[in-house]
Amino acid sequence: MKTRKLLATMMGVALAGLVVTSCTKKTEPKKAEARKTEAKKAQPAPAAKSGIDAVDTDAIIANDKGDKEWLSYGLNYGETRFSELASITTENVGQLGLAWSYDLKSIRGVEATPIVVDGVMYVTGSWSIVHALDAVTGKKLWVYDPEVDRNWGYKGCCDVVNRGVAVYQGKVFVGAYDGYLHAIDAKTGQRVWKVDTIAEGRKAGRSYTVTGAPRAVKGRVIIGNGGAEYGVRGYVTAYDVSTGKQAWRFYTVPNPGEKQENAAMEKAVKTWDPEGSWKEAGGGGTVWDAMAYDPELNLFYIGVGNGSPWNAKMRSPAGGDNLFLSSIVALNPDNGEYVWHYQGTPSDNWDYTHTQHIIVATLPIDGKPRKVVMQAPKNGFFYVLDAATGAFISAKNFVPVSWAKGYDENGRPIENPEARDTTEGKVFETIPSAYGAHNWHPMSFNPQTGLVYLPAQHVPLTVTDDPKWALNKAQSGTTMSGLGWNIGFLFDVKPPKAAPMGKLIAWDPVQQQEVWSVNHPAPWNAGTLTTAGNLVFQGTAHGTFAAYHAKSGEKLWETPVTSGVVAPPMTFERDGVQYISLAVGWGGVFGEMIRAAPNVTPGKLLTFKVGGSAALPEVVAATRLKLIEPDTVSYTEQDVQAGVGHYIANCMFCHGLPAVHNGGNIPNLAYSTEETVKNATKWVLEGASVDKGMPSFKGKLDEAQVTDIMGFVQFMADAQRKKQAAAKEL
Ligand code: HEC
Repeated sequence: MKTRKLLATMMGVALAGLVVTSCTKKTEPKKAEARKTEAKKAQPAPAAKSGIDAVDTDAIIANDKGDKEWLSYGLNYGETRFSELASITTENVGQLGLAWSYDLKSIRGVEATPIVVDGVMYVTGSWSIVHALDAVTGKKLWVYDPEVDRNWGYKGCCDVVNRGVAVYQGKVFVGAYDGYLHAIDAKTGQRVWKVDTIAEGRKAGRSYTVTGAPRAVKGRVIIGNGGAEYGVRGYVTAYDVSTGKQAWRFYTVPNPGEKQENAAMEKAVKTWDPEGSWKEAGGGGTVWDAMAYDPELNLFYIGVGNGSPWNAKMRSPAGGDNLFLSSIVALNPDNGEYVWHYQGTPSDNWDYTHTQHIIVATLPIDGKPRKVVMQAPKNGFFYVLDAATGAFISAKNFVPVSWAKGYDENGRPIENPEARDTTEGKVFETIPSAYGAHNWHPMSFNPQTGLVYLPAQHVPLTVTDDPKWALNKAQSGTTMSGLGWNIGFLFDVKPPKAAPMGKLIAWDPVQQQEVWSVNHPAPWNAGTLTTAGNLVFQGTAHGTFAAYHAKSGEKLWETPVTSGVVAPPMTFERDGVQYISLAVGWGGVFGEMIRAAPNVTPGKLLTFKVGGSAALPEVVAATRLKLIEPDTVSYTEQDVQAGVGHYIANCMFCHGLPAVHNGGNIPNLAYSTEETVKNATKWVLEGASVDKGMPSFKGKLDEAQVTDIMGFVQFMADAQRKKQAAAKEL
């Protein structure tokens, strides 16, 4: 019965048009000063460091003035992605042309922000591979492959992506997908050290992955991880930049054992039901993306992710806020101790991570300058908090939302009472969905316009409780349970009513309102950059790169690029010339399944300048456009019923819905060749594409089940063909 419903849903989703057509303890400055002087004394007159050897906390702060280089993930520690470079202006941006391109050679998603120091660019492609290039010519200097076991690919929910490196004192740091943090000599590309950031989790068989960019602060490199879909306990860890020795670790959710690590965890554990399934599932709260630092306040901010399992009724049946899920937590970077937190989505139930980009800036609040942190997380609200204390200043939805009506003066959401009522097959169309109203794609803040440039979206999904869910139990029909997902929900219900949407919003964080916006044809558009040239840059899902007037939103320049874009652009100046660089490579959790651009070109790094005249690299057009022919596989209704259950449990969040989606960087199986369909076991059971990230299901599925799955794929292709024929007749 359930599968019948599942099947109906898949068709429903098709109809819904998911396929895109159209207190802080302040620093102890004295101590810090003393330490510095001591450190200076200890080193007998070292030769003045230059270039990448000189990159440290002070250099990253100093770069803020003029921003000629790009030394840290978000440009500066406040992660504003606002560059003071102004040779590219609203007047000459129309003359931007390609200066050079570089082949990242990745066929999966590319999410990295390049770092540029002393004329060298450091950027990552998929599978966490680091490339060092001459920033002016694009010539390769070295490539460092952390050699992630390609079989690890399915241990992460959302593509084998990497958002970039950190640099500090002559080293380049990459958090590899399999959880190892590597320190690389910036000059030679040779490894200096490597640590296992998930050692205990690895031993326990937990699915931790790292996709975020490390941040380097005060001699330490800091990294979190992902995995809350699978069942893990989140944390961030700081390592000594020279040795890789662990300096501190902060867990974001309580210890399921008897003893808590610190006072913050003792406080947090009181907000969880001791009988809840979080005890086995780990609770979640992974810090898989946002981090920011404020040197004046000496606070290090982390964005904490969703619950594990997602379903709050299963995770913590007696309720509770479940600290510090879906929160911003401020830590002391010297020892990793808790300072304050703000929880935007208490008792998260919808995968509303607060891991999205955190910006620290000064805004005029009630007529006075106030240092704030800003965030626009998945749940659709834009938050402004006091940076020193975490005090709630304001929150306002930047897109339509259905789960809450707004926030009360204490900063608690006023939830729609129906938003959690998904028992016994009931559905609530949660807007935003788990894809987020804004996901990891960074926003930018321009102090000259006072506006935040935010890639917003909606991707419809509806969920209902999964009454059969049990930890780590692979069950037909249970979302990705064959690969270890533990979410406690089924995506099996009525077609969503809301339509997919993607737009660039210029948001006034003081007035909490939209000032201008640009609608895009599809969701999942790229992160943004803003500059003192009064410009905003953004790539799009449909494969273009554009510049807008920062005040008016007028489009001033646009160029086709090699594929859909998800990564944010960056800018730097070298020998008096300003460049704009953009990593292009379609992917991510949405981009694995769905594509809005006609091209599927492997990842490239494109760099533009005024008057640039290089040719765009050859684009690779998508070829998988033809539905599998009728009767390629024969099926009975029963086969299809069995096949859909296995498909949902093992294939869906990589290959998408057959014939409903069109395939992103992973092919949609309804558009396979006859050869592939007939020999599917070659891939599914014999591991023919393990090197590309296609897991082997040997021992998990048998031949008959694979045949059922392909029967279901054929059935979906046939249904789509009928629908197309009917549409033609109309
Ligand atoms: C973790 C993501 C992931 C999961 C889960 C997954 N696949 Fe794949 N699959 C891939 C990737 C990546 C490829 C290689 C695509 C390429 O060649 O570029 C692939 C390739 C294939 C191919 C070859 C397709 C072709 O046209 O070349 C088949 C068939 C296939 N998968 C079937 C399945 C089935 C059936 C399931 C579920 C039982 C499944 N896959 C689950 C990622 C996945």
